[in-house]
Amino acid sequence: MSDRPNIALIGPGAIGTTIAAALHEVNRTPLLCGRTAHAHLILHHDEGKIVVPGPVLSNPSAVTHPMDLVFIAVKTTQVTDSAEWLAALCNENTVVCALQNGVEQKTLLAPYVRGATVLPSVVWFPAQREPDASVRLRAKPRLTLPDVPQAQRVADALSGTRCGVELADDFLSIAWRKLLQNAVAGLMVLANRRAGMFARRDITQLALAYLHECLTVARAQGAVLHDNVPQEIIAGFQRAPADLGTSILADRQANRPMEWDIRNGVIQRYGHSQGIPTPISDILVPLLAAGSDGPG
Ligand SMILES: NC(=O)c1ccc[n+]([C@@H]2O[C@H](COP(=O)([O-])OP(=O)(O)OC[C@H]3O[C@@H](n4cnc5c(N)ncnc54)[C@H](OP(=O)(O)O)[C@@H]3O)[C@@H](O)[C@H]2O)c1
Repeated sequence: MSDRPNIALIGPGAIGTTIAAALHEVNRTPLLCGRTAHAHLILHHDEGKIVVPGPVLSNPSAVTHPMDLVFIAVKTTQVTDSAEWLAALCNENTVVCALQNGVEQKTLLAPYVRGATVLPSVVWFPAQREPDASVRLRAKPRLTLPDVPQAQRVADALSGTRCGVELADDFLSIAWRKLLQNAVAGLMVLANRRAGMFARRDITQLALAYLHECLTVARAQGAVLHDNVPQEIIAGFQRAPADLGTSILADRQANRPMEWDIRNGVIQRYGHSQGIPTPISDILVPLLAAGSDGPG
């Protein structure tokens, strides 16, 4: 690998545009690989905007050689459709950094990456796509990755950029803590309401019961999370602006497929496989799945 690694980004949406812009600002512009062709990407942030020159490629046959580092920021429901990009951009020397929610990125991506190393990450910043495909960044970009040797390639690529990178010894616990937060946000889909709904006592009780179910499953997977985590997560929603949404709610309201399986189905699947009762998941998950995928 040369001093200037070849970097590609698959999925230049809300998260992908943010990372592409952070890299572009320090002259490490990645190859942009998307579904929809665009002449450039635009990121709006608190102090202004960054224009990332394109084009956004939309045909994987345009790729001439594998990359050192590939960021993938498609929704997890879009991974299968991204298979041709991964095949063109990866070989066994590539590091693939998944900028996706959930705790299953490695399993999900491994079949498509031709022996590359897959690194999960926790994405800590909210970003939102505008109707004109530009992206609005809502907080300082920050990622956490597992502290493994290959993660240094990601840390080096993002060093000196506006996106911070932390390498964590106990990545598993951090990823599960974030998953619990995402899982309980799924209740917003069924209520069709934003964070303000957590001010209700009945919702707080339901959310806490669900989070205790999630916590039991997380601990059975090896996550070290203390007893107060459910309460802390609910308190976080209660402190948030009442109109704070979540991407799974945005997807439902736009009638797009939802990431219900990696955010909520995972609790039920892991629970069932370990004999842990998941009575709340058993109601929540089919409703989210049907809301996402139909029929009807
Ligand atoms: N947004 C957030 O605030 C946030 C925060 C934390 C974590 N996350 C997680 O980050 C991941 C990405 O979310 P996002 O909000 O950035 O999604 P998004 O805005 O919908 O972006 C997805 C991008 O992938 C592209 N894409 C779809 N199918 C593709 C294909 N077959 N090949 C290449 N590109 C394809 C889309 O193209 P089109 O332009 O054609 O739609 C779009 O540019 C998700 O797992 C999400 O849960 C998001």
